[in-house]
This record gives sequence, C-alpha cells and structure tokens, in this order.
Amino acid sequence: MYAEFYGLKELPFALTPDPRFIYFTPSHTEVMANLHYGIESGKGLIVVTGEVGTGKTTILRWIMQRLDRTVLVAYIFNPRLSVTEFYQHLASLLDVQKWETKPELLVSLGQALDSRHSRGLRTVLIIDEAQGLSPAVLEEIRLLSNFESDTAKQLQIVLTGQPELRSVLNYPDLRQLKQRVALRCVIKALPNVEETDRYITSRLLASGAERTDIFSREAIDYIYRCTEGIPRNINNICDNVLLAGYAAGELTIGRSIIEEVAESFDMLPRLDWGLQTGEENESPARIFSAAGRAELWAAGEVERSTNLSLSDV
Ligand SMILES: Nc1ncnc2c1ncn2[C@@H]1O[C@H](COP(=O)(O)OP(=O)(O)OP(=O)(O)O)[C@@H](O)[C@H]1O
Ligand SMILES: [Mg+2]
Repeated sequence: MYAEFYGLKELPFALTPDPRFIYFTPSHTEVMANLHYGIESGKGLIVVTGEVGTGKTTILRWIMQRLDRTVLVAYIFNPRLSVTEFYQHLASLLDVQKWETKPELLVSLGQALDSRHSRGLRTVLIIDEAQGLSPAVLEEIRLLSNFESDTAKQLQIVLTGQPELRSVLNYPDLRQLKQRVALRCVIKALPNVEETDRYITSRLLASGAERTDIFSREAIDYIYRCTEGIPRNINNICDNVLLAGYAAGELTIGRSIIEEVAESFDMLPRLDWGLQTGEENESPARIFSAAGRAELWAAGEVERSTNLSLSDV
C-alpha cells in the first residue's frame, strides 16, 4: 500500500474520528475549553454545533478519554431512540438499577445524581448527532436538566450536532429547553491554507512520517480551496491523492494530481470561493485531567496570551 511508499507507519487520513490524530485548531481548542469550563462549573446544558465533518465526534472522543476519574459519562450517539429506549439506555449507562416505570427511574436517577454530587463527583450525559433527536426525547432532556442542587446542576448535558440542531432548538414547543442552554459553541472548519498545512502535517507526523514535504505548497493551497477547510473532506482528498500518487510513482504530490482526484470526487473549488471571509478570532481556555489540561494548554498557548473569553449565553 501507499503507506510504505511514503515512509508512513499507518494510513494518515482515515475517515474515522480517531482522537490519536487530533490537531488543535483554534476553533477546536476553544470548543474543548468551553466544554471543560461548562462541565467543571456545573453549567448544565451545553450545545455544540458544527458543519458536517468538522470534528464534533473527534472532539467528544478526545475529551472522554481525558476526563478524570471523578466524571461518569453516558455517551449516546444513536439519536433515533424512542423515549423508552432513551431512558433504558441512560439507566444502563449510568448504572441506575431497580426501576420499572419512568417515575421510578427518575427517583432512582435523582438519588444517584444527588449522591454523586454530594461526594464531589460529576455526571455527564453526552448526546452526539443530537440534530436527529425527536421533540419527545428533547422534552425528556429538558426534564433531566432540572436535577440540580442549590448551586449547580447535578447532571451536565452536552448536545452536539450539525447546524440543524440550532433550528430544532428554535421550535416553539422546545422554547423551554432552549432557555436552559447555558453555553453554546460552534466548531468551525480550518480557516485558511496555513491551518490546512498544519493539519495535514500533524496527521502525517502522527502516522510516523519521516518527511513532511509529501504535499507541495501548491497542492495544499488547492486542497484548501477544494475542501473549504473541512477536515473530513481534507482526509478524503488526501487519502485518494496519496493512492493515486503511489500508483503514478510520484514521491511528491503536486497540484495536478489533486485536480484529477478532486474532479472525480466532485470536489473542485466552488466558483464563488473568492467571496469567503477567511479567519475568525478564537480563544482557548482550560481542560480536564492533568494530562489533557497540559495538552490543551500547550495547544492554546498563543491565543491565550491575547484573548481569553468564555462565552456564556
Ligand atoms: N481537530 C481535528 N484533528 C484531527 N482530525 C480531525 C479533526 N477534526 C476532524 N478530524 C477528522 O475529520 C474527520 C471527520 O471528523 P468527525 O467525524 O469528528 O466529524 P463530525 O463533525 O462528527 O461529522 P458529522 O457531522 O458527520 O458527525 C475524521 O476523520 C476526523 O479524524
Ligand atoms: Mg459526528
């Protein structure tokens, strides 16, 4: 396969949300910091949105691996659950036993949360792909957000999803849920060619690359234009381009191979590309277990010195 040809130990651009390959863009760093802040300070309901393929699941996995042991996480990634299935799933993930009816479950869950909270332990419910949740399940989530002590929420709830999630939260019937959202953050695509370059280099290095000049500067420039900085699209194009380069015996990937692959994947740059607005300002903060916090601090070093803001809504 092409890995060996390019001096790599494994494939660098798989489409799985593997946190080993995480690259801290300013936007990803900020979202992780906000999640940390929200969970640490018992904010309650946190909503994270981002376009398809921008890295929502990758961030969640990275964070879950680094939460310290005082945090119990229930992670749900199948939003098409009925209310009954949702509660069954939740009870099993949070190890709540001895219940048959929903009122019994809520009592047991309340006791479990109260007991954990009084011992200084945190409990987090994370729901990925939340744009697909039914209004009925979202209404149950609102009820769950009512578990609270005098000073903090006892159950932290994180909803992540595509931008449609914002529209879902705007349904008139869900306005009570919307009012409970304590923190909102948005994951953005990579903002420019430089970040795309760093992203590609970071993934190559994570795959054991000995050389980081496999892609020419023109190639990376064109990859950014074709993908609009969306990580999954970058992975898709880079993986196929390396395969094509290997087949053609090209040790360095130039722009022409990108053009060929982009055309066959219908990913040629949009004509209105010149209208895109470019960089946004982002700011990072803190995170989790000692190792995770150190990693995140290191990633956010530059931005932190200029601008630290946590946007409560
Ligand atoms: N910060 C990042 N560092 C490294 N790889 C990333 C990053 N963000 C995204 N990726 C990669 O991009 C791809 C898509 O990421 P992911 O599945 O997390 O996106 P998503 O936002 O959850 O997409 P969807 O909306 O379809 O659920 C994955 O291969 C992932 O490894
Ligand atoms: Mg996802």
